[in-house]
Amino acid sequence: MTRVFSGVKPTGHLTLGNYLGAVRRWAQVDQYRSDALFCVVDLHALTVDHDPGRVLRLSRQAATLLLAAGLDPEQCTVFVQSHVDEHARLSYLLECVANDGEMRRMIQYKEKSARERERGGSVRLSLLTYPVLMAADILAYAADEVPVGDDQTQHVELVRDLAVRFNQRYGHTFVVPRATRPKVAARVMDLQQPMSKMGKSHESAAGIVYLLDEPDVVRKKIMRAVTDSGQEVVYDPENKPGISNLLEILAACEAVQNSGAQSGNPEALSGVHTTYGALKKDTADAVVELLRPVQQRHKELMADPAYVEGVLRRGAEKARAMARPTVDAAYRTIGLLPPA
Ligand code: TRP
Repeated sequence: MTRVFSGVKPTGHLTLGNYLGAVRRWAQVDQYRSDALFCVVDLHALTVDHDPGRVLRLSRQAATLLLAAGLDPEQCTVFVQSHVDEHARLSYLLECVANDGEMRRMIQYKEKSARERERGGSVRLSLLTYPVLMAADILAYAADEVPVGDDQTQHVELVRDLAVRFNQRYGHTFVVPRATRPKVAARVMDLQQPMSKMGKSHESAAGIVYLLDEPDVVRKKIMRAVTDSGQEVVYDPENKPGISNLLEILAACEAVQNSGAQSGNPEALSGVHTTYGALKKDTADAVVELLRPVQQRHKELMADPAYVEGVLRRGAEKARAMARPTVDAAYRTIGLLPPA
């Protein structure tokens, strides 16, 4: 069976963008059609300035939300990266396969390190080696598919290069994975800056709907979304990014209610609404309804921390058992003396 691995980084609260763009599909499709692992990649949250207490809270929250969104521990493996030593163990070996030049060419490294320097801060070495740890995450499990957003394509290419290089140099050890993009994923943009993605770590929360936002907060954010000049409600991402984003969100919400797996078609909603205000109101209602069951389930899970801990403990055990043989094999293949 196809093995799928993906991760969420606990650097911010999960957003509507994370849900409609990825997590919903993991819950509704991927966990049933494949042997899937979903990981809260907490080690990756330490690559930039971080607050220890916040990382801890966000990690627990992300794991709880993945379960609330419908990941079923009977169907897939949900775990926290730092609970499984194999990631760090394999990462070191891959550092001995990667080279300095290719790491410095990573777009995300260039952007993030430049931003860090502008602020007068120092750049953590782990920011440079981040994609190697990501490679370890994926290769340790012999994953075939890695469902990720566009911004991760370059990293997954690097993972493939490292796997091929290791296999050629030392002998076949790793499955060469590929990035997959959901056929129909909503691409949710920031409500205040509809030209950029609704990311969890933007400075301003006004354009971001978080999965745990109260209904009145959700409504307020959507009613205050920036719109475009003109009055016609048509899907035209280039000329009407604000309205198109609302249509995209509304279509995606309706798709969940009607058919589950498919994302809706925002173009088909062009012309249905006569005013921007009517579109905003419908979108707000739809998002509130979409989030209601997830929030309800999250509340129940928060009341039962022992259950969540148990899921994560069993998840880590399962993950460790899967990763161990591959990582041990890599240690032997690269020339390290096996312990007696
Ligand atoms: N780099 C990914 C991101 O920023 C998170 C991540 C880390 C990941 N390890 C992974 C995603 C392995 C998929 C597979 O979103």
